[in-house]
Amino acid sequence: MTQAPIIRGARRWGSLLAIGVICLGGGVAHATAPPLIPIPAEVRAASGSFAVDAHTMIAYAPGDTKAEAAARYLAEELRRSRGVTLAVTATAHPAARSIVLHSDPKASVEQREGYSLDVHSDGARIVSRDAAGLFYGAVTFWQLATADGGRDATRIPGVSIRDWPRFEWRGLMLDVARHFHDVATVKQVLDAMAEHKLNVFHWHLSDDQGWRIEIKRYPLLTSVGGWRTPPGAGTHGEPARYGGFYTQEQIREVVAYAAARHITVVPELDMPGHAQAAVASYPDIVGVNGDHPAVSVDWGVNPYLYNVDEKSFTFIENVLDEVMALFPSTYIHLGGDEAVKDQWKNSPTVQARMKSLGITDENALQSWFTDRLGDYLAKHGRRLIGWDEILEGGLPRTASVMSWRGVQGAIDAAKKDHDVVLAPAGWMYFDNLQSDRADEPNGRLSVLALERVYGFEPVDASLTPEQARHVLGAEATLWSEFIPSARHIQHALFPRVDAMAEIAWSPRETRNWQGFLQRLPAQMRRYAALDIAASDTAFAPAIHVEGDIATILRNGKATITIDNQTAFGTLRYTTDGGAPGADAKAYTAPFTVSLPTTVRAVTFAPDGAAIGSLRTRTVDRDNLLTRRNGELMKCPDGSLGLRMPLLPDLGAMDTPVYDIDLFHACWVYPKAPLDGVTGIRIEAARLARNYGLAHELSKVVSYPSKTAHGELEVHQDSCAGTMLASFPLPEDKALGEPIVLEGKLPALRGEHDLCLRVTAPTDGPLYGLGSVKLTGSHPR
Ligand code: ACM
Repeated sequence: MTQAPIIRGARRWGSLLAIGVICLGGGVAHATAPPLIPIPAEVRAASGSFAVDAHTMIAYAPGDTKAEAAARYLAEELRRSRGVTLAVTATAHPAARSIVLHSDPKASVEQREGYSLDVHSDGARIVSRDAAGLFYGAVTFWQLATADGGRDATRIPGVSIRDWPRFEWRGLMLDVARHFHDVATVKQVLDAMAEHKLNVFHWHLSDDQGWRIEIKRYPLLTSVGGWRTPPGAGTHGEPARYGGFYTQEQIREVVAYAAARHITVVPELDMPGHAQAAVASYPDIVGVNGDHPAVSVDWGVNPYLYNVDEKSFTFIENVLDEVMALFPSTYIHLGGDEAVKDQWKNSPTVQARMKSLGITDENALQSWFTDRLGDYLAKHGRRLIGWDEILEGGLPRTASVMSWRGVQGAIDAAKKDHDVVLAPAGWMYFDNLQSDRADEPNGRLSVLALERVYGFEPVDASLTPEQARHVLGAEATLWSEFIPSARHIQHALFPRVDAMAEIAWSPRETRNWQGFLQRLPAQMRRYAALDIAASDTAFAPAIHVEGDIATILRNGKATITIDNQTAFGTLRYTTDGGAPGADAKAYTAPFTVSLPTTVRAVTFAPDGAAIGSLRTRTVDRDNLLTRRNGELMKCPDGSLGLRMPLLPDLGAMDTPVYDIDLFHACWVYPKAPLDGVTGIRIEAARLARNYGLAHELSKVVSYPSKTAHGELEVHQDSCAGTMLASFPLPEDKALGEPIVLEGKLPALRGEHDLCLRVTAPTDGPLYGLGSVKLTGSHPR
């Protein structure tokens, strides 16, 4: 076996291209590095290739239970994704051309969770000192065997890998409180985590909108706290009552399923804020001020806090007893985020309690609250982790910190010798949209593109090596206000989880964006084989019409450009109605089409396979004069931008979505070509205003109205400009009903921005604009 020099990860792939041309049995030259994500610490190309087919055996030595578990996992993964069934056999003398898994306390890779994997024509061998390492070796082998996305037999080029993780905490958080996701969906997430070598599943089990874990001693937590009545309940497919919870038996099942994949489940019960579902269930035990709220239907920040008296602590400790019995995790997450202190400030009993404790402000009270629960967990051999707000009143002695409001919380905590996990919203909040494309589903309107995720570095340069040791790792979070279904989860997580996994697993010096992109097409094929609806945003062709619309309409010709978010691959297109295949014209420069023409485009990866799905744009009068949701601009640039579904809990991916700025009900139709325009047609919808804004409520701008439900006004140039039209909003439309507003515009010439503004009362529903179309005898 000839060996090429060691390739340390992606940075040297260019070299691998030069030296590592590997001939497969059929004589096909493969000039690419192994398509593995996360990239292993060390990869060497090796000669030969290894056939995996129905005759291939997976073998382990009798009594080697760690190897047996990984062997069975590998067989099941290959069956699931390729449809090949390999025999798993305990034998001291494996046949030639077997995949052998072997525990060895003296294995050459010494790092925890590390492994070596050698593939050559006589077989494959995975060796590790520990069970996790064998498991990750199996994952790597599975990736090698599924890169082509095909079924049945395959052939793997020879390779020699030594690999281990950079961080011990490679986390993914799923919020099941805002939208409930059933056990089957959670298991799919765990399967995908294992396939990415992620090992901490942070399960956000309670929040204002739902309590999701059965607690035997307090049954109302789930019978009351597990359910809410959504806005629009019972109409347009919206459920009449929304919710659900996991029984303790189901929790045990999930914990065991995760453990079999070397994933620790860290439960989160959020406190003292985000407590409304708990308070709704037991207002007289944990509530403040005698308030009896219902389970919240509002996203955002709600005011209900846990009480700080002994009754409340007894309740919380009893709940934690059951939680600790269910979850073997050392860490228990007790939230701590966004606890607005109004209730504590306004409660004479809470104020008296503070006084008796000698605590002078409410942040310090939260610190005391957290510290006390941290002590309780510590007495039971557990550790508390919380969001970075727990730093505010003085960091509780025993706590570890999950930094979400940027990275400063992690830096501060690490400098104080506390362990930290990095989950900063600007890089790790996967409920943000992946692009500004109009075809993105629900989410927060901030764009968190794949490349930005990939660029995150968990260890800040200001930390000393000693302090850096407190960085346990990184975590991606999926908050679920806008994630109502398993399909939405898949779209939001993948492939951004691939970028995150490489940050958390691979040595820093191996990370390379272009190398990562090269390895993604294989990963997209794995997703397809597993029926995971990964987002193709990074490769999706964007078909742009250049120049001003009036000129295009006058000349009947338009200049088209095509690009994609990552500038990866070859964009191929047609203008004759056919679907672009591998032989379609490659886009290299702007081109001209006559109106009407439909442009169809697909991105092809360097290996010649399509990556992502077809995108289409029809260039005609109607299309050029219409701006749809996502093509209208925000005005002024709002800070709380959301892409909301028609109704909060509709689970279909094709539910209409609307871009909303919670503070300003206005949008801009940029550069409207008004020559010959005589009218306007607006499709709008009345949406639930279900958002708790707490202290930000005062920022909501209301515009003066003349009729009961307000109007949709059209202004010239800016919202302060001349009003061109005003359409009273109808009285008889329920939430989610489409509203069509149509009427005349005065004759104007040239291009003008149009401000579209809703003057409806701000204590009523929100409005969204589906599309705005200019009508009339535009010059041809
Ligand atoms: C958070 O996003 N409130 C932790």
